[in-house]
Amino acid sequence: MQTHEVRLEPSGICLQVREDQAIVEAALEQGIAIHHGCGNGSCGDCKGTILAGDGEQLPFMPLLLTPEERASNKAILCKLQPRTAMRIAATVDESPAYWQGRVSGLHLLGETVMELRVDCDRPYPYRAGQYARLAVPGAPSLWRSYSMASAPREDHRLHFHIRKVPGGKFSEWLFDQAQIGEEIMLSAAQGEFTRQENDRPLLCIAAGTGLAPIEAILEDHFRRGERRPIALYFGVRQQRDLYHLEFLEDLASKHPELRLSVSCSDPALSEWSGPRRLLPAVAAAGPWPGHEAYLCGSPGMIEAAIDLLLSHGMPHEQIHFDSFSPSA
Ligand SMILES: Cc1cc2nc3c(=O)[nH]c(=O)nc-3n(C[C@H](O)[C@H](O)[C@H](O)COP(=O)(O)OP(=O)(O)OC[C@H]3O[C@@H](n4cnc5c(N)ncnc54)[C@H](O)[C@@H]3O)c2cc1C
Ligand code: FES
Repeated sequence: MQTHEVRLEPSGICLQVREDQAIVEAALEQGIAIHHGCGNGSCGDCKGTILAGDGEQLPFMPLLLTPEERASNKAILCKLQPRTAMRIAATVDESPAYWQGRVSGLHLLGETVMELRVDCDRPYPYRAGQYARLAVPGAPSLWRSYSMASAPREDHRLHFHIRKVPGGKFSEWLFDQAQIGEEIMLSAAQGEFTRQENDRPLLCIAAGTGLAPIEAILEDHFRRGERRPIALYFGVRQQRDLYHLEFLEDLASKHPELRLSVSCSDPALSEWSGPRRLLPAVAAAGPWPGHEAYLCGSPGMIEAAIDLLLSHGMPHEQIHFDSFSPSA
């Protein structure tokens, strides 16, 4: 397999990258802390600029690059493989920041969702909607991304909603072994899925634990005394994944501008009176062109929701999303 030299600017770091390797993967393999998030084309945190040379840009989540960014040679580096020697403008985190946290709360929110509370050893700066990378206890080279479910608070306490994934390294530790007081390492907060400062009403679409960053965004929104209309669509496939319904109903009763729709497509849930499917419920209440949209959940749901909103005439600048893709 042919290898090419890829020089990162302005650091001047040179990588040797195979043609079947993405830049981010090669950098991490060579011990370079290139700035990145999901590692699989879902978050946009590894955006860089091709300054010279040719590469193959493999598919990534739609809307991560605007047409203007594409025209100015921006690239998604975790999905960019070199075809010649290249020069690339990319952020290298000089000394990755880590926080030591301590498990301070473990609460089952539903059959398959656990709330994890972590107290940090020092202030943990983040914006509502962002996520942290948490080291899998006992396997410190394995990291998993989790969105903060709460807005920043003075007590340095973070809340997460974590769904149990069968065979999952982090989630099985959390459900089966985690203890109060146990130490856990966190990386600095990442992500651009945060509330936009404008006057548009909000359309929030959350699937499963995609509800977590949406709850953080809403907490931040209400704390600032905002009164804009909010339509919140929360959906799960299986009854056992439903959680926080009382919390959401309570929120809606305190904030009349919040309209809540919960969907569950589980046929076993015969007495369900709400909608069965998430996106058809959104479509039926649309179109939403004047709204600012916040989407969070599985990559499949996000792609389908983006298609729906674009077909409803929503400009892509008004669509913000966070895709909970499995770790690369
Ligand atoms: C930006 C971002 C934010 C995220 N925020 C959250 C959050 O707030 N809450 C949350 O619960 N998750 C969140 N995730 C997903 C999370 O990072 C992990 O991928 C997930 O918890 C599985 O980790 P694990 O170690 O338990 O399983 P792993 O050890 O990574 O996986 C075990 C097996 O399950 C498969 N698998 C992993 N995830 C899934 C899945 N979703 N569906 C089906 N199969 C799967 C894997 O391919 C593998 O075969 C987020 C992901 C990203 C990228
Ligand atoms: S790290 Fe490349 S898109 Fe997330």
